[in-house]
Amino acid sequence: MRKLLIAGNWKMNMDRGSAVQLAQGIAARAAEFPGIDLLVCPPSIYIAPVADAVAGSAVAVGGQNMYHQTNGAYTGEISGAMLQDVGATYVILGHSERRTLMGETDEDVNAKLLAALNAGLTPIVCVGEILDQREAGQTPQVIRSQFTRSLAGLTAEQMTQTVLAYEPVWAIGTGKVATPDQAEEVHADLRKLLAEYYNNAIAQQVRILYGGSMKASNAAQLIAQPNVDGGLIGGASLKVEEFLGIARAGM
Ligand code: PGA
Repeated sequence: MRKLLIAGNWKMNMDRGSAVQLAQGIAARAAEFPGIDLLVCPPSIYIAPVADAVAGSAVAVGGQNMYHQTNGAYTGEISGAMLQDVGATYVILGHSERRTLMGETDEDVNAKLLAALNAGLTPIVCVGEILDQREAGQTPQVIRSQFTRSLAGLTAEQMTQTVLAYEPVWAIGTGKVATPDQAEEVHADLRKLLAEYYNNAIAQQVRILYGGSMKASNAAQLIAQPNVDGGLIGGASLKVEEFLGIARAGM
C-alpha cells in the first residue's frame, strides 16, 4: 500500500520568521496524521531554520531545486549534499516554473535526478502539460516524453526511491484545478509507463502526487482517485489550517 505524501512547495514566499512559524505550526499537529507523510519545501536559505523547527516531529523538509554537480565553481548553485547537510531529505525537481522561467530541460532534470539520488535525497520529479497541449489532445505524448527523458537511466531501485508529481501547468496557481477524472487519467498513464519501463511491482510502489490549485476543499476527491497518492501544494501550503486540511482529506 502506498503511503500518502502531502508536500508543501512554498516557492519564493515567506521570510525567516514566518517560515519558522509555519513549520512549527505544522509540526505541532503532525501527530494527528499518523498514516500520512508530511513534507515542507521552503526556500533553500530557510531550510536550516525550518529543519530545526520541525525537529522531533514527523514533518520532513525538502529543497525546491538543486544543481547536478557535487561541488566546485558553480556560482549561486547548491548541491544535493548541501541540501542534506542542512536537514533536507527530499528535493523537488523539474517544477514547471523552473522549466519555463529558468529554461530547465528534461536533460537538466535527469542530471539533477541522478545527482539527488546519489546524495541520498528523495526526488519529486514534476511533469505536466500546458493548456495548448491539453487542448490539442497531446497530454499523453507530452507526459510520455517528459517521463522517458527526465527519468532516463534510472535503475529499478532508484525508481522506487523517486516520487512523481503530475502538475498540469494550466492548473498551477490559477485556481483552475484538474477534475478528479482528468488527474486520474494521467496518473494511471504514468503508472502504466512505470510498468512498461520497469515492471508492475515497481509501478505499484511509486507514489504519484497531484499538483495544481489543490486545497482543503477539493483535496478529498482528488486523493480518493486510485492512482493519486497525495499532493504537491503551492498556495494552499502557506497556511497551517489549509495545508493540514489537505492532509485531513487523505485520512
Ligand atoms: P498551486 O501550486 O498549488 O499554487 O497551484 C502547485 C505547485 O506549483 O506545486
